[in-house]
Amino acid sequence: LSNGLAKTPQMGWNSWNFFACNINETVIKETADALISTGLADLGYVYVNIDDCWSSVTRNLKAQLVPDEKTFPSGIKAVADYVHAKGLKLGIYSDAGAFTCQVRPGSIFLEKEDAALFASWGIDYLKYDNCYNLGIPPKDRYPPMRDALNATGRTIFYSICEWGEDDPALWAGAVGNSWRTTEDINDTWASMTKIADLNDKWAKYAGPGGWNDPDMLEVGNGGMTYQEYRAHFSIWALMKAPLLIGCDVRNMTAETIEILTNKEVIDINQDPLGVQGRKVSASGPDGCNQVWAGPLSGDRLAVVLWNRCSNATTITASWDQIGLESGIRVSVRDLWQHKELTSDAVSSFSAKVDAHDCHFYLITPYPDHSVE
Ligand code: DGJ
Repeated sequence: LSNGLAKTPQMGWNSWNFFACNINETVIKETADALISTGLADLGYVYVNIDDCWSSVTRNLKAQLVPDEKTFPSGIKAVADYVHAKGLKLGIYSDAGAFTCQVRPGSIFLEKEDAALFASWGIDYLKYDNCYNLGIPPKDRYPPMRDALNATGRTIFYSICEWGEDDPALWAGAVGNSWRTTEDINDTWASMTKIADLNDKWAKYAGPGGWNDPDMLEVGNGGMTYQEYRAHFSIWALMKAPLLIGCDVRNMTAETIEILTNKEVIDINQDPLGVQGRKVSASGPDGCNQVWAGPLSGDRLAVVLWNRCSNATTITASWDQIGLESGIRVSVRDLWQHKELTSDAVSSFSAKVDAHDCHFYLITPYPDHSVE
């Protein structure tokens, strides 16, 4: 969507994966505080996104949405003012149907009124869900909210959440700034790997202005190991996925912080070329030895060796797989060890990778591209 936003994938936090409906204005404000104090905001995590359950179960007598008076007694504008004062942005949630998934009022047929209300509160981002959709196709339900947001005159990020039902990569580029390509993620290795593969299919449709969205991060929620979370974060970064933290940022382990604050990995995600990296090879049992790669600005490449098998194994990326001509000499930087690996690689690169772990490399051809 050409509204000037999403030149690179959006970064921030969303309440759903950890809090579900247990949200209130204190949680949101403390999250904003924590994004600042942990340094996450400085790294680009600027959207503070409230998901489902912020709203009262009924509209007011003027048919307006109203915040739940028990959990958001000060109102959403007060939260927006608080978040803005910290240099952050506030996101909210509604639904392209009669009700949200947690049965709060939806916005269908009241798009203009709701968008105007959101703008009046100072909202910067709308996630627009797909429940109770009256059987109307997404292609008919999502554009009216785009037009309504545009008509407010406020610049609002538009996140389409129709769960990949109607192949949104094929049509949502002109409608939203990102579109979910899959069902909901959950905090397991099985879910995360399945969603990575589903999202991969749509790689060629992503780019500046509109991104495939394989759902929010589960890093830090406890259901996967350190290695699995590191792989989750690496692949989401490589796939140019939105980096929306889904844990309680007020209460993170050192390992969670290490993963989410890896600036070298974030830089791959935010690279201005904006090309989604893809799975380029899968070998071994069930194709569990995988190479994922994509081009970056400056003729560089990002390469992930991902071991989805249950034993440590050596994985090789060959130049033809990753899109380099054979004979090109490169330097190889390990983005989790944060060091240059001595390499005279001219046709392939191998490493031993632990089970369910990955290695993430930044590959830079030598300036003369010399073939010795
Ligand atoms: C379904 C969405 O896919 C989730 O991300 C979340 O927003 C829930 N609905 C909230 O009810």
